[in-house]
Amino acid sequence: MPMPCTKKSLHPMQIITTPNDIQSWAIAARNQNQRIGFVPTMGYLHEGHCSLLKTARQHCDQLVLSIFVNPTQFGPNEDFDRYPKNWEGDLDRAKTCGVDIVFHPDAEGMYPTSDKPNPIEDRVHTWINALHTNGSHDLLHQLCGQFRPGHFQGVATVVAKLFDMVQPHTAYFGEKDYQQLQVIHRMVDDLHVPVEIKGCPIVREADGLAMSSRNTYLSITDRKRALCLYQAIQTAQRLITNGCTNPLRITQAAMECVQSATDRIDYVTLCDAKTLTPLHTWQAPSVLAIAAWIGTTRLIDNVIFP
Ligand code: PAF
Repeated sequence: MPMPCTKKSLHPMQIITTPNDIQSWAIAARNQNQRIGFVPTMGYLHEGHCSLLKTARQHCDQLVLSIFVNPTQFGPNEDFDRYPKNWEGDLDRAKTCGVDIVFHPDAEGMYPTSDKPNPIEDRVHTWINALHTNGSHDLLHQLCGQFRPGHFQGVATVVAKLFDMVQPHTAYFGEKDYQQLQVIHRMVDDLHVPVEIKGCPIVREADGLAMSSRNTYLSITDRKRALCLYQAIQTAQRLITNGCTNPLRITQAAMECVQSATDRIDYVTLCDAKTLTPLHTWQAPSVLAIAAWIGTTRLIDNVIFP
């Protein structure tokens, strides 16, 4: 069961809405030798976000939470327009988790209008998109990259911008978005960004469903069907614990679970934990990663085999 957040902030929480103001705040905090911890989010906070905030709270003097639904990481037919929002609920959770600063910019601030006001993608003149690992394999085109073209460029670009604004010492990301975490590791390594990246474990509901803001889209019946992702993970874990080292057998068994209750599967892949290239022979560390659809809701989940 996820633990409730307990730590209270000693100072009133501040809301900052412009890149200039957060940057000035960050410079002042750094000048006072304050350690800045940062949790970037798109809001609609749940216990998964809360666990990131709790972890961050223990290791920093100033805890910054950003809430920004980033338009450039959504494809044209994705859920940008209906992405769930709960501003008051988010502020309550943020306070309970000891957040010092909520950074809540708008799209105009993050992507200022230039000569090309719309679509928003045209306002971005500099993208972060060169995320090659080696030769023909690159992180952007594995797993979700095949199904969400442009998504990780949008993520890497907005995270790079947020890092420049918030200037954190350490930033915290959930392992549920495993590929996103690897893309960000790669981005900070490649660009020598002086931010330490910490991945934090997936937080699950009591019945095993990985926490996600998008779970709110699921009806009661669909939520039950969604449990097949966790069942697939448990099946793979059982096989591996029992000595199976055949990636094909492991993915097939997981695939059967996912097939049993979802409407469409994007992938069920056992892959190298760093490059995310699919495995043909067993190796560790590896990750079994899943993306599948229940109706119009796309869910992802994974398990790491260290
Ligand atoms: O994981 C998310 O919520 C988003 O992808 C992130 C990292 C906040 C970038 O918009």
